[in-house]
Amino acid sequence: MIKKIAVITPGGDAPGMNSAVRAVVREGLIRGHEVYGVYHGYRGLIDGNIERFNLRSVSGIINRGGTMLGTRRCPDMKTKEGQGRALANLAGHGIEGLVVIGGDGSMQGGAVLSRAGIKVIGIPASIDNDIFGTDETIGFDTAVNTSVEAIDKIRDTAASHDRIFIVEVMGREHGFLALSVGIAAGAEFILAPEAPLTVASLSAELNTERYCNKTSVIIVFAEGAGNPFTLAEQLRASVPVEIRVSSLGYIQRGGSPSARSRILACRFGAHAVELLSENRTNEVVVLQGDAVTSIPIETCVNGVKQLDDKLYKLAGRLSQ
Ligand code: ADP
Ligand code: F6P
Repeated sequence: MIKKIAVITPGGDAPGMNSAVRAVVREGLIRGHEVYGVYHGYRGLIDGNIERFNLRSVSGIINRGGTMLGTRRCPDMKTKEGQGRALANLAGHGIEGLVVIGGDGSMQGGAVLSRAGIKVIGIPASIDNDIFGTDETIGFDTAVNTSVEAIDKIRDTAASHDRIFIVEVMGREHGFLALSVGIAAGAEFILAPEAPLTVASLSAELNTERYCNKTSVIIVFAEGAGNPFTLAEQLRASVPVEIRVSSLGYIQRGGSPSARSRILACRFGAHAVELLSENRTNEVVVLQGDAVTSIPIETCVNGVKQLDDKLYKLAGRLSQ
């Protein structure tokens, strides 16, 4: 059995990461491993910022947003020199197994270490839910709830003033967050990189009687779909209703994780350690339907997740 394992959070923070760190540390200790925490992502791995953890090291974090391990974007991890230093630090501590909690970039870094002989298991965590092979990532449910709560509040002003609001949400190059937020908030339109709408078609729709009779209109705008302020400017030329833009920004990424994000993190964390105990490597833990299972890291980082077209159409139909 692998004696020493470590856990690291190298990418953007997501609510529920701490719950996953706790699960990895406690499941690891219960299974008889020595467990280490790596601070500040791959930056800390390269600099040797590594600490041995016990059961109490992860007390009181299941409900905390962000990551208690800290994180840094670390371009050095993409260089041979940086990777060499990371491997040397792992070898120096005698660490053979590593659980990487994060997004696509974190998994790519994990794949590099795995090719060099470290046993690596990835856990998908990102508010964007853009990781191929898993129905859900840690943090996504929390971010959806945070954004929906914010839009419900924005809707109060939209309805009172009879305004159109364009609400920008995160999601990088994808519209998964926008779609879930949009359908749950009853948004009249959802603009995603995978489902662009022309200014002309949007303007034509907004000028129909159906939309003119509405007391408020919310357009959920995925950050990857362009510039919401430009869209507002373009629409103002043909739509005789006040239009405002509100960008939700980093409030979507922070805050206490929802129960669903915490439960997913507990299941993912424990499964990752189980895989390491079986000497498995180069895999990512995923949720498929109700089941927690795993796929090769390469499959995960090379695949492109598709937006649920049926859900997108349903959102449009129900918000008319
Ligand atoms: P996320 O994991 O949320 O997608 P990033 O894309 O910033 O966040 O990736 C996290 C870190 O992973 C980067 O700062 C970098 O250190 C490392 N990383 C990203 N891509 C690679 C790669 N191709 N090879 C090695 N390391 C990588
Ligand atoms: O991947 C999560 C995410 O919050 C994206 O939605 C957003 O585009 C990006 O990270 C912002 O990252 P940064 O931490 O570099 O501002």
